Amino acid sequence: MFTKRTHTCGELRRAHSGTTVTLNGWVDSRRNLGGMLFVNLRDRYGITQIVFSPEHDAELHEQAQALKSEDVISVTGVVRERPGDNRNPQMTTGDVEVLASVLEILNHSKLPPFEIRDDVDAFEDLRLKYRYLDLRRPRLQQNLLLRHRMYQVVHRYFDEKGFIEVETPVLMKSTPEGARDYLVPSRVHPGKFYALPQSPQTYKQLLMVAGLDRYVQIVKCFRDEDLRADRQPEFTQIDLEMSFITQEDIYELIEGLMTALFKEALGIEMTTPFPRMDYFTALETYGTDKPDIRFGMPLVILNDVVADSGFRVFTDIVEKGGRVTGICVTGGADFSRKKLDILTERAKSLGAGGLVWMKARNGSLESPVSKFLKDGTAAALRNALNCEDGDLLLVVADADVVTASKVLGQLRIELGEERRLYRPGSHALLWITDFPLLQWDEEGKRWIAEHHPFTGPKPEDVHLLDTEPGKVRADCYDLVWNGTEIGSGSIRIHDGELQQKIFSLLGLSDMEIKQKFGFLIEAFQYGAPPHGGIALGLDRMVTLMSGLTSIRDVIAFPKTNSGLSLMDGAPSEIGPRQLRELHLKLDLD
Ligand code: AMO
Ligand code: AMP
Repeated sequence: MFTKRTHTCGELRRAHSGTTVTLNGWVDSRRNLGGMLFVNLRDRYGITQIVFSPEHDAELHEQAQALKSEDVISVTGVVRERPGDNRNPQMTTGDVEVLASVLEILNHSKLPPFEIRDDVDAFEDLRLKYRYLDLRRPRLQQNLLLRHRMYQVVHRYFDEKGFIEVETPVLMKSTPEGARDYLVPSRVHPGKFYALPQSPQTYKQLLMVAGLDRYVQIVKCFRDEDLRADRQPEFTQIDLEMSFITQEDIYELIEGLMTALFKEALGIEMTTPFPRMDYFTALETYGTDKPDIRFGMPLVILNDVVADSGFRVFTDIVEKGGRVTGICVTGGADFSRKKLDILTERAKSLGAGGLVWMKARNGSLESPVSKFLKDGTAAALRNALNCEDGDLLLVVADADVVTASKVLGQLRIELGEERRLYRPGSHALLWITDFPLLQWDEEGKRWIAEHHPFTGPKPEDVHLLDTEPGKVRADCYDLVWNGTEIGSGSIRIHDGELQQKIFSLLGLSDMEIKQKFGFLIEAFQYGAPPHGGIALGLDRMVTLMSGLTSIRDVIAFPKTNSGLSLMDGAPSEIGPRQLRELHLKLDLD
């Protein structure tokens, strides 16, 4: 047995002075000073300074000299106030220390591969291999705690609104969300595979057919796709679905949830309703369907302004039906030539043919292309972009109508961050609506669903399905937070026939439709209610709440960008016996 703690390492204050306490925890650091040994003892709740004094107990002082970082100990002693100049205002327990009289070493630690502290400089791969040590860092623990508090808000909020939490299967038939499936071979049914859910989309719709009316689940989803800072192969959604609703009900519900989360996590009062912007306006004004609206710097289409400018790069593109787009960088006229060259290279690496820069000075524009511009064009450009002396104009022309916007949209984000055009710690949420239902995939020469194939077309656009499918808008919506898509949903198709029609537009044969989604179409024949829902990416939300940039920092055991779990070595090989049982043969060439 060991002596159990009476307090945590984050608990003791001046008022505890004189009491005898026991603390349990890890040795965070130790230093010898003035003949005494000071040990910082750490647990999840904080750090407390322990003093081993030779005058108080010489034998104990000697014993404590053997302590090493990350040893697990139990210490009993008396709390005393630290002398004034030894107080540490950085520590919540910084006014006191514990004068040790009993020390029990509960476990020794090997020398850790990196120091357990927030400003750790070890490579992430090493930290991921020893994730359990990395997770001892207060910062990561705070992230998990925040995540926990967010779960609690979610459960409470939806319970109060009459939602039922229902668990849906993990071994299932594939649901298309646009990524590849992770597959699980069936031992009992040779040659057959379960898919891990990319989302519980079909199940939640079936729960509506079942009359559950309001479903919610905090659920793991699995997607085999290219990973990056805000993507993991397994991630968590707050997934929900409701019957007999319209888009407005979803907006109100989710705005209420976000308000509750912001209040709990950051103490911020959100203003509702959130702004809404349709997809095309977002693309034209910000060059992306997930605009960061914490700052302005909108894109401006300049086709009309430059059509008769005399500069061939622009006029040719306008004639070809392409697009010329510009932005105004406030105060950017003092950019050096080197900086402008870097911006140009960046624009090219993003897919632009080039970048024209123009410095607004003396009521005109200074640029390598000025000499090509007809009289009046400079003034017209300044006017269109709302530019003043001291600003910088950036212009991209491209035959493809979205390339120019996308490139400048990305430069806008990078310049916005670099020039601190928004307050750190500020938050801007908005809804993006009216996405096209279908996107033409040039490579595969086929239509693909912009959201997923269960998304309903806007009723007023249904008639275009046969004639101009590309023009049909969807009844769907994304929630965007500081330039990150954190949620996505739609009003669903609840009519079997319409669903079948969309599947065939997506190029599925009747056979494939029956095989893949027959169960859903059949279910819709038994009285499917009008329904709709949304899923929010929980990991991304916690990342943004914590002011972090990597989703891995808010997941206890994340994978690397190549899908590896460095700690346990997954994915790993399996032996011949297991392969045989699963009726699998490997062909690795
Ligand atoms: P969608 O595929 O847009 O919609 O996913 C919803 C939200 O989940 C988050 N997300 C991810 N987070 C981390 N890593 C990933 N790999 C990842 N992929 C998605 C995003 C995204 O907005 N069934 C539909 C929802 C619906 O229609 O109700 C769906 O899954 O924040
Ligand atoms: P060029 O005629 O190719 O020498 O280009 C003249 C100027 O136009 C250079 O400053 C190029 O960077 C710029 N430029 C070329 N192509 C484009 C484009 N697609 N969009 C914007 N600027 C371009």
